Amino acid sequence: MQQSSAGAGKKKLLIVDDEKYITQLLTELLENEYAVETANDGIQAFNKLKSDSFDLMLTDISMPNLDGIELLRLARTQLPEMNVVMMSGLATTENVIDALNLGACHFIKKPFKIDDVNNIIKQKMNAAAAGDGASEVDAIMTDINYLILSNNYGRMTDIKKVLPNCTQSYYEIFKDARVVKNLLKIKQFDDAIYRHSLDVGIIASIICAFKHVKVGLLNAITLSGFLHDIGKINVDYNILNKSEKLSAEEFEQIKLHTFYGHNILLEEGFKEEVAEVAFKHHEKLDGTGYPRGYTEYGIDTASQFISVCDIYSALTEKRPYRKKLTPQEALELMHKDFVGKINFDVVKLLKLFIEG
Ligand SMILES: [Fe+2]
Ligand SMILES: [Fe+2]
Repeated sequence: MQQSSAGAGKKKLLIVDDEKYITQLLTELLENEYAVETANDGIQAFNKLKSDSFDLMLTDISMPNLDGIELLRLARTQLPEMNVVMMSGLATTENVIDALNLGACHFIKKPFKIDDVNNIIKQKMNAAAAGDGASEVDAIMTDINYLILSNNYGRMTDIKKVLPNCTQSYYEIFKDARVVKNLLKIKQFDDAIYRHSLDVGIIASIICAFKHVKVGLLNAITLSGFLHDIGKINVDYNILNKSEKLSAEEFEQIKLHTFYGHNILLEEGFKEEVAEVAFKHHEKLDGTGYPRGYTEYGIDTASQFISVCDIYSALTEKRPYRKKLTPQEALELMHKDFVGKINFDVVKLLKLFIEG
């Protein structure tokens, strides 16, 4: 372990990697700017966290004794607010999701470019210091970028073509501080619901961008996707995360998120069209949905659209009660179990960007 000299007044950075040449290289790169300490495994690092505080920890995942994910889990007990950037040559979806669940703020894939690491550390250190709206938007955009990189949204080469339009739309949407505030409320309540909310917005935006819909509509649909489940913040957390079968009464509690969502969004001053999606995204065209059991004539197009994105997102996520499905498996299940219930014009669009 090493400690930089002349560290007084500098922000503190802990670098953790079992490959000593990496800790040495990064120390040389960063010690002018930060008070750098290093550790060569998770246990050494955790001992440092117990006796000292750091502004940011940069940690490898694969390490002997205690790996980066376990270290992050333990670190949260000592320094819940510390920024953590993960590095790994094995950036599997599970790794990324575990790290995000534990509040890691960035994921660097090895081998990395020195300049990239430098920029990311600088950006995260500055964002933490700023603590303003801009850093909140940056944090959400980082989460969105991770989801896009770690999720299998289909043919990435084609998706990359529409991503600039989608990204522009996200920044446009996040100019509204109410959107940022409510997304962060969801994140605070349950990170999994937050990721699902972003996921639904991302899927909706990609489909709209593929179809070249007008910017105003793209933004409105994406916004409705981001906030469709806002009402869940008023539902009992333990019921939402129950892995056993829900009782009828518990299911009734969950259904209420549609009412809550509608109310929250109207109270916040969002347009009725946005609140309507929160209210109707679980309605089914054949009248078997909730909360009202409307048929297709009572369900607006945006709600039908988000309903498809919502189901696809839910099926491709791991839930407490089942494993996640691949995009193909999700599409197959939708064709099998949802005929007559959801809008298959939207499913066709979804299929386009998944399968080509
Ligand atoms: Fe929902
Ligand atoms: Fe949902």
